[in-house]
Amino acid sequence: MKGVVLAGGLGTRLWPLTKVINKHLLPVGPYPMIYYPIGMLVDAGIGDLMIVTGGNNAGMFLELLGNGCEFGLEHINYTHQATPAGIADALKLVEHFVNRERFVVILGDNVIGGSIREHVEGFARQERGAKVLLAKVDDPSDTGVAVLDDAGRVTKIVEKPKERISDHAVIGVYMYDELVWDILPELRPSGRGELEITDVNNAYLERGLLTADVLACDWGDAGRSPDYLFEASIIARRNKLLSHFELLRRGAG
Ligand code: TTP
Repeated sequence: MKGVVLAGGLGTRLWPLTKVINKHLLPVGPYPMIYYPIGMLVDAGIGDLMIVTGGNNAGMFLELLGNGCEFGLEHINYTHQATPAGIADALKLVEHFVNRERFVVILGDNVIGGSIREHVEGFARQERGAKVLLAKVDDPSDTGVAVLDDAGRVTKIVEKPKERISDHAVIGVYMYDELVWDILPELRPSGRGELEITDVNNAYLERGLLTADVLACDWGDAGRSPDYLFEASIIARRNKLLSHFELLRRGAG
């Protein structure tokens, strides 16, 4: 399975922290934010990675990450999203890299307090379709929100609902099969002018091909506000993600 880390976008909600520095290079605990999503994929057994860069100072990703030896990798692929036209738009850039394989996408500002390995393995066993991960949160107003039926199956996903319809946020980890390449060209920009990942997930849902797992660990959306950025550092410390990275480093020798 292949892995994609999305690190385009402008990070306006963290302005002025992001006026000069790319959001994904801001500190979360002792590491730059993007270390966490990369570490999550490597920990899940995915070592063939593409980073979608964009926004300000996109060249710094190469300077920071090189070929990924700090994560025990021999190589990392990079591409560049010239305009921040949405998460689903960024996916179009990785079609040649993914090449009809299954893949896991992770947003570059998500900090997860545990491993996603079991969910990735579950998706590998799934016959076809997509899988999303959900987290129970106090305030899901600024995310995609999933409504579940009594059996825990997703019935719909609404992007940033005005009213509270559920406390299950769709976190920034999405797993897709090759059907995504048929869905993406059919998308139309939303009211905010972006191609929405929620529309991709709903397209799978309408075909009866979407599964969802509820995350049993902490989840941090570090790009949501300066308070959430701070909270992401606490999640990293509380879950000892830092010692995990030290192990990866030592493994890389
Ligand atoms: P968002 O936080 O929704 O968007 P943003 O990073 O532009 O920030 P803001 O809304 O504060 O201006 O994006 C979530 C992640 O998705 C982020 O880590 C970067 C990535 N992303 C892209 O790669 N390309 C895009 O066009 C967008 C909108 C986001």
